Amino acid sequence: MTQASRPTLKIAVIGAGFAGQAHAFGYRNAMMAADAPYRVELAYIVDPNRALAERVAERYGFDGVLTDIDEALASDVDAVSVALPNFLHADVLARVLASGKHVFAEKPIGRTVEEAEALEAFAERSAAVTGVGFSFRRLPALAAVAQLVREGRIGTPHTARVWYHADYAADPRGALSWRYSQEQSGGGALLDIGAHALDALHFVVGPVREVGAANLSTIITERPRPVAGAIGHGASESTETGPVTNDDVALLAVTTETGVNAQVALSRISTGVPNSLGIEVFGSEGFVSFDSLRAGEFVIHTQAAADAYSNGPRTVTTGPEHPYFSDVAAMPGAGVGTGYAEAFVAEIQEFLRCIVTGTPIDTDFATATTMMRVVGAAFEAAATRRPVAVEAAKAALSV
Ligand SMILES: NC(=O)c1ccc[n+]([C@@H]2O[C@H](COP(=O)([O-])OP(=O)(O)OC[C@H]3O[C@@H](n4cnc5c(N)ncnc54)[C@H](O)[C@@H]3O)[C@@H](O)[C@H]2O)c1
Repeated sequence: MTQASRPTLKIAVIGAGFAGQAHAFGYRNAMMAADAPYRVELAYIVDPNRALAERVAERYGFDGVLTDIDEALASDVDAVSVALPNFLHADVLARVLASGKHVFAEKPIGRTVEEAEALEAFAERSAAVTGVGFSFRRLPALAAVAQLVREGRIGTPHTARVWYHADYAADPRGALSWRYSQEQSGGGALLDIGAHALDALHFVVGPVREVGAANLSTIITERPRPVAGAIGHGASESTETGPVTNDDVALLAVTTETGVNAQVALSRISTGVPNSLGIEVFGSEGFVSFDSLRAGEFVIHTQAAADAYSNGPRTVTTGPEHPYFSDVAAMPGAGVGTGYAEAFVAEIQEFLRCIVTGTPIDTDFATATTMMRVVGAAFEAAATRRPVAVEAAKAALSV
């Protein structure tokens, strides 16, 4: 495609908090893709907090700001990102779908199975590209691990361990934002970071059939109320506190449709481990493992290379042979390194590519609903202390 024939996509990012800024970063760098079949016009950052929107627009080079979502949807932008607190997603995403604009939504698309299913049905009737930010799938090393498992390089998988350890909630002074309200968030660690871990498990070994057991616990039960306009995970100096109504830690035992037994460990209070999503899969012929703290590499062991004297797990450094790498790395050489920041670039590149090529995106609203059904089953398993089949999981969350 020549420079001149590349269509220009005009973009608005709705929500200027942590995730909205990551999307702005992604759009800002989307042109890095080798042979990008699009051009990008950074039109609006949209947030009721105008001062924040202006700071974010200035930082990432967006042309303007809006405080009214409907004004953005009535404008001539082609595509929007939505990165709002979870309780706004069902309403705002429905409005975006009704506008016909292409949409890239943050996870989760709703707080409950019902909210996600309604949006999935709406998205299916839309001609727009409807993507969801399961950003870890775009890490070259995790994408390579998924490919190797699918190719049978470790034989038939039978056991897995997946985790997401984060420390954003480890400080008890962390403000009581929407994230700590079951009603506003739809779930604590189980949904906030569990969304990524459960999606990684699905990506690498396939969909979950049953949640055998789930333990949810809240360790920090009270937090100071936030000050107006606060975003992200910062501390609050307020002396007024309120209750945390969702989980800090979630531990699940699950089985996939192909019979892989997996442990899922999720914690938002893992002091000293700021952001680690990992997966280990054991199969009949070997194992693979990945940890986002060392995002530029993965480990593989295969019996096929059998030589009992010197065989063993080896570390592979990602490079241009691996998915997404060449479109996001600053230099086309193995070891240059890609991290979570580049995953936001790769996911936006994929979204824009799907728009101009008219291709459905792999992380769509159906993917988000599949993840949400596992979360729904986990809530039910935790409440009933019984195994719950995922397809039978009702919207167990009381919102
Ligand atoms: N993919 C990822 O790695 C990732 C990381 C962080 C967050 N997320 C997701 O992104 C979404 C946003 O999370 P965040 O961390 O950016 O949140 P945040 O609290 O940092 O930002 C939320 C933004 O929404 C705006 N907003 C608009 N209307 C609002 C209202 N009525 N009440 C409160 N805020 C309002 C706020 O001004 C703020 O700018 C969530 O769905 C979250 O799960 C994804």
